Amino acid sequence: MKSAANYLCPLCQQALTFADKSYRCVNNHSFDQAKQGYVNLLPVQFKHSKAPGDNKEMVLARRAFLDNGFYQPLVDKMLSLYLHYGKTAEPLLDAGCGEGFYSHQHKNSTNQVYGVDIAKETIKIAAKRYQDCHFSVGTLSKLSVSDNYFSWVTSVYAPILEEEFTRVLKEKGYLLTVTPAQHHLYELKELIYQKAHEHDVNKTPVKQLTLIVEERLSYPMVFDCNKDVLNLLAMTPFAFKASDEVICQLKSRKQFTCQADFILRLYQKQ
Ligand SMILES: C[S@@+](CC[C@H](N)C(=O)[O-])C[C@H]1O[C@@H](n2cnc3c(N)ncnc32)[C@H](O)[C@@H]1O
Ligand SMILES: [Zn+2]
Repeated sequence: MKSAANYLCPLCQQALTFADKSYRCVNNHSFDQAKQGYVNLLPVQFKHSKAPGDNKEMVLARRAFLDNGFYQPLVDKMLSLYLHYGKTAEPLLDAGCGEGFYSHQHKNSTNQVYGVDIAKETIKIAAKRYQDCHFSVGTLSKLSVSDNYFSWVTSVYAPILEEEFTRVLKEKGYLLTVTPAQHHLYELKELIYQKAHEHDVNKTPVKQLTLIVEERLSYPMVFDCNKDVLNLLAMTPFAFKASDEVICQLKSRKQFTCQADFILRLYQKQ
């Protein structure tokens, strides 16, 4: 059985102790563990909208797509960096973890893997499937964990909050970010926009940590089943821009090839 997680109270920053399916601090603030195993550490006053983050449809589309292995080369690359540079028995955070796919991939028999996301529906889905990881609803701008706690933080297509990530990283700990490179999903964007823009790869919000590795990973994804392309479309931020005509076109195609293009950046806290 997995041990209790080490969280801080989001209201008073004191340590939370786990007993009777509830996390409680010395000031008696308490946070129940949900039946799926996650804990909601996002007090209402920290929420800027009623249901922040991706919606359930986007999350289920992402899960179906990821389950079919289209991003396996990305997982392999992330894990090879983790095995090479990381202390794989120490706690790891997947920041903006979505439905937990990458969190779970990093779990081994000795480490504790934490996944945090602001979207409750997403965390429910993550916790239900991946019971060996610690999932919580929370905001990346104020993580409910002590300073210098994690030796590895991953951020896959999620907001990068450098100051907070640096705070929770141990000395010499690593932050691995995955962001889109120029041609990511270019063929799909070309169908939707009259003029598809390439991603701006120079946007890196990380200034205080030291860049150790920067690698580009590009490969074509060949879809024989239009369900996969529709799932891919549904998990993108431009899905709502796709006209009915484009969706019909995608449904009728026998095959569709689209480029996956990622930039992985590994930073270290000095
Ligand atoms: C594009 S998704 C990526 C999810 C996952 N990393 C993956 O690649 O499958 C971005 C995620 O960041 C989460 N997110 C956005 N802003 C956040 C914040 N301020 N705090 C926590 N999570 C946030 C969203 O809810 C969403 O699940
Ligand atoms: Zn408290």
